[in-house]
Amino acid sequence: MNKSGKILLVGFGPGSEEQMTLRARAAIEESDVVIGYSTYIKLVEHLLAGKEVVRKGMTEEIDRSIEAMEQAKQGKTVALISSGDIGVYGMAGPTYEVLLQSGWTPESEIEVEVIPGTTALNAAASLVGAPLTHDFCAISLSDLLTPWPQIARRLEAAARGNFVVALYNPKSGRRTEQIVEAQRILLQYRAPSTPVAIVKSAYRKRQNIQQVELAKMSQCDIGMLSTVIIGNSDSYWQEGLMITPRGYSNKYQNLTGETHAGEKAGHSLSLGLEGWQVALYEHLQANLQESLAEAATLFDVPMAALLGALANREDDSACLFKATQVASEQSRELLAHCKSWVPLRATLQQLNGVTAQVTLNTEKELNLDGEMLLLGNKNGQFQMELSSISSIWFVQHEQSIHFLDRHGNTLFQLSQLEAESTRYQQTLQQFSQ
Ligand SMILES: C[S@@+](CC[C@H](N)C(=O)[O-])C[C@H]1O[C@@H](n2cnc3c(N)ncnc32)[C@H](O)[C@@H]1O
Repeated sequence: MNKSGKILLVGFGPGSEEQMTLRARAAIEESDVVIGYSTYIKLVEHLLAGKEVVRKGMTEEIDRSIEAMEQAKQGKTVALISSGDIGVYGMAGPTYEVLLQSGWTPESEIEVEVIPGTTALNAAASLVGAPLTHDFCAISLSDLLTPWPQIARRLEAAARGNFVVALYNPKSGRRTEQIVEAQRILLQYRAPSTPVAIVKSAYRKRQNIQQVELAKMSQCDIGMLSTVIIGNSDSYWQEGLMITPRGYSNKYQNLTGETHAGEKAGHSLSLGLEGWQVALYEHLQANLQESLAEAATLFDVPMAALLGALANREDDSACLFKATQVASEQSRELLAHCKSWVPLRATLQQLNGVTAQVTLNTEKELNLDGEMLLLGNKNGQFQMELSSISSIWFVQHEQSIHFLDRHGNTLFQLSQLEAESTRYQQTLQQFSQ
């Protein structure tokens, strides 16, 4: 089908002409109509001679998309412009949504092209050094269209995952407390001294850079035109530069020096995909009194990953730490069978490392009632839905069975109390076939 009109979704970079791509400039030049937020129009004013210009307010995003679609339907080439990258918190998404909802497809008569640009986080990073040299993420603090609990969860996940975090839309005239709350969440996982760069109006006339630490971030001058970059636990300020190490010190004495003992150039680290499993096994052997839950915390892995690592060991001839997974569909049958283990111990893993233990002395204290599992007696009882059990693991050295949730964490564990009993082995044999 012949294309009649064209929509060019143009990211023109942070603001200065030198940071605009050649394609972005050419796209604006080839268009008949340019549509954009009035501030953006001002930034590219010198390229707009002879063109129809449609200025819209900040909140009129969907209007801008509809206008672009209507103009393109008339056969015009329309540039819808946005600062940075138009696909990053920009107009590319809403425009595709408007088009698709109107029945447009990529084969329709209107052609669409997305033209990438340097986004604010790249621009800001380039002005303060090299803060993004390791894993990073972008989070917008704008709760105008995203519920705050979702933003808070993402901040927490990023903080826990030790990502370098770039905050977009950190603060506005009305949204002043979000940055305070973000700082509070990040401080739960990061040191108060963590380096923070606040870059305002990057590559524009009023460019301003503040170098601070996380504990002071929210007191700084932050606005609608600021991007905030928060380092990870290895980032640092030196000579006015924010650096996030690439990781060479995990392998080498100095950047170019000898490798550390156990490390090899060009190979995964000793704590790489397979190496961490060897390290775990050696750690358990050296710390026989340590619980698996403690080891999972130390290696920062869910219990399922830890048990999977133990199950994979082929050279564990003594079956010291053998773990064996059985089908979770057998949970009801297995729990009914475990009644024959009494007395037994049920250990419930709670949040924040708090563990609850209960000794089950009679069969009645391990009760299946419909879809519910009840552990304990009238003096104290735990209950949970059977459907919350996602996987089941037998653990040799604990003589216990771990019941894990869908995140791979232990919901509860049943352990044989009698040291000499053969019940664990018999049960394992019966359910692992
Ligand atoms: C709606 S988002 C648009 C992002 C844009 N599409 C991009 O890729 O950079 C607006 C936010 O981007 C950031 N921003 C945009 N331009 C910036 C600049 N020149 N300097 C610093 N931050 C900027 C600010 O955090 C601002 O609140």
